[in-house]
Amino acid sequence: MNHSCSYMQLLLSFFLVFFLGNSGADPTDGFTLVPLTDANIELQKPYDVPLEQRYSCEAGVHRMWVYADDKPHEPDSRTQPRTEIRIQGLDYSSGIWQFEGYGFVPNGTSGATVTQIHGAAMAATTIILRIYNGNMRYYSGDLVAENLYDKWFRLNLIHDVDGGVVRVFIDGEKKFQVNDKGRSDSMYFKCGVYAAPANISYYMESRWRDIKIYKK
Ligand SMILES: *[C@@H]1O[C@H](CO)[C@@H](O)[C@H](O)[C@H]1NC(C)=O
Ligand SMILES: *[C@@H]1O[C@H](CO)[C@@H](O)[C@H](O)[C@H]1NC(C)=O
Repeated sequence: MNHSCSYMQLLLSFFLVFFLGNSGADPTDGFTLVPLTDANIELQKPYDVPLEQRYSCEAGVHRMWVYADDKPHEPDSRTQPRTEIRIQGLDYSSGIWQFEGYGFVPNGTSGATVTQIHGAAMAATTIILRIYNGNMRYYSGDLVAENLYDKWFRLNLIHDVDGGVVRVFIDGEKKFQVNDKGRSDSMYFKCGVYAAPANISYYMESRWRDIKIYKK
């Protein structure tokens, strides 16, 4: 991957911790940061186009986009199109894991999964967080957060595997909690854009920066 991108991400993180400080309870309290390298950032994109036509990384911002009529990520796959970061090398099956990232979804993107935990006993995914018309939903159902278009938001997604619970925080505030879908041997975080089965915009984009993984 792109080393300059990771370096900027590191600088940005230091800036935020240094100048914005850290007051009050935070979703990351009590968690241990799991250092990431470029090897942990795997990109999935429509199999028939070069990465640079669906992804860019500048000043620490991963920008991912996809079109409704794009191909899946592999020729044999029958899934919807995606351009996603798959956190690689940190698959888990127990403990408490947390994804943190700052996300940005431009107005117009709809029916796009922007973050997910892949893997579960009873389904393909433990949780899917989708943007529909600027609001974030649990799959196509429960409302998680409103009015997220065109602004950076901080997402903290906690999976307590042993407790069987998933919690979603937006800008440090707890917005949603749900039971998970059972333990699988291999669960992992993803972010980017993955088209929903229905009600999707032609163009889908999300941007992510300061992606971090924590565990407890
Ligand atoms: C998004 O774009 C539409 C169409 O241009 C506009 O009507 C709407 O107000 C915009 N929403 C936000 C949150 O900016
Ligand atoms: C798509 O949108 C329509 C109209 O809003 C709604 O009735 C339907 O349930 C949606 N389908 C899915 C799969 O989200």
